[in-house]
Amino acid sequence: MTLIETVKELRAWRKSAGHLVFVPTMGALHEGHATLVREARLFAGSEAKVAASIFVNPLQFGPNEDFDRYPRTLDQDLAMCAEAGADMVFAPSVQEVYHADRSIQIRESSLSHVLCGASRPGHFDGVCTVVAKLFNLMQPDEAVFGKKDYQQLAIIRRLVRDLDIPVLVHGIETVRESDGLAMSSRNRYLSAAERAQAPALRAALMQAKEAWLGGVTGSQRLIETIRAVLASQASLGRPDYITLVDQQTLQPLTIAHEHSLIALAVFFDKARLIDNIELSH
Ligand code: PAF
Repeated sequence: MTLIETVKELRAWRKSAGHLVFVPTMGALHEGHATLVREARLFAGSEAKVAASIFVNPLQFGPNEDFDRYPRTLDQDLAMCAEAGADMVFAPSVQEVYHADRSIQIRESSLSHVLCGASRPGHFDGVCTVVAKLFNLMQPDEAVFGKKDYQQLAIIRRLVRDLDIPVLVHGIETVRESDGLAMSSRNRYLSAAERAQAPALRAALMQAKEAWLGGVTGSQRLIETIRAVLASQASLGRPDYITLVDQQTLQPLTIAHEHSLIALAVFFDKARLIDNIELSH
């Protein structure tokens, strides 16, 4: 596996790479990311190439967020990418990606105002800007994103549509611990007591899906089901949001339909965890 740290080397590598499947990441890789790389390998087959990027993007962190303490584990990350079948990893410095006097960035004005976007102003503009730049640098034919960050996936689909970026975007199912907790680089911030109760996020979403399959469609009742499960766990913090939305537009719904999604975020002491469930048959 090749490691590339500069744009110049990347451009040279890309010239002869052929069909390319790309997995953008911020590093601190876990089994969820390894699955994205393995899925990318499956999309690529034996002929095409798989590349991942590892770049902690300052633009998507708010002033009080965890940019400085975001875990950086490059050596482990590279080993995991190699093992999962990547041909190349692009791991540039911040200076390599952003010009000091940069003055242009992307702004999303609809899907980013709900869910996580409501409490993280500018976050998805930072994601869109870096993903557009990474797409321009990497020039992939296909790209792979996890459904855990469902809002991010929906926004990237919109980015690619609205800016006519010729990349096929794949959404991959969330990888979970055996007790149901969605894998996340931020799970390491949980205390032992919080970790023990964190699977309640998934359990609550599953109960809401069961209720929906049983004929409950009103958002209030579905959300109440979730609140009740979360409230029964003393170590869980306050929910940031629990919302029923349309899978594509992310606009809130009062009645669930066949392409709905329930997404939630819960505050813990040092972390805020998110999860979601698609309401589809
Ligand atoms: O999902 C992530 O890790 C990041 O938001 C992404 C897509 C790599 C952009 O920095």
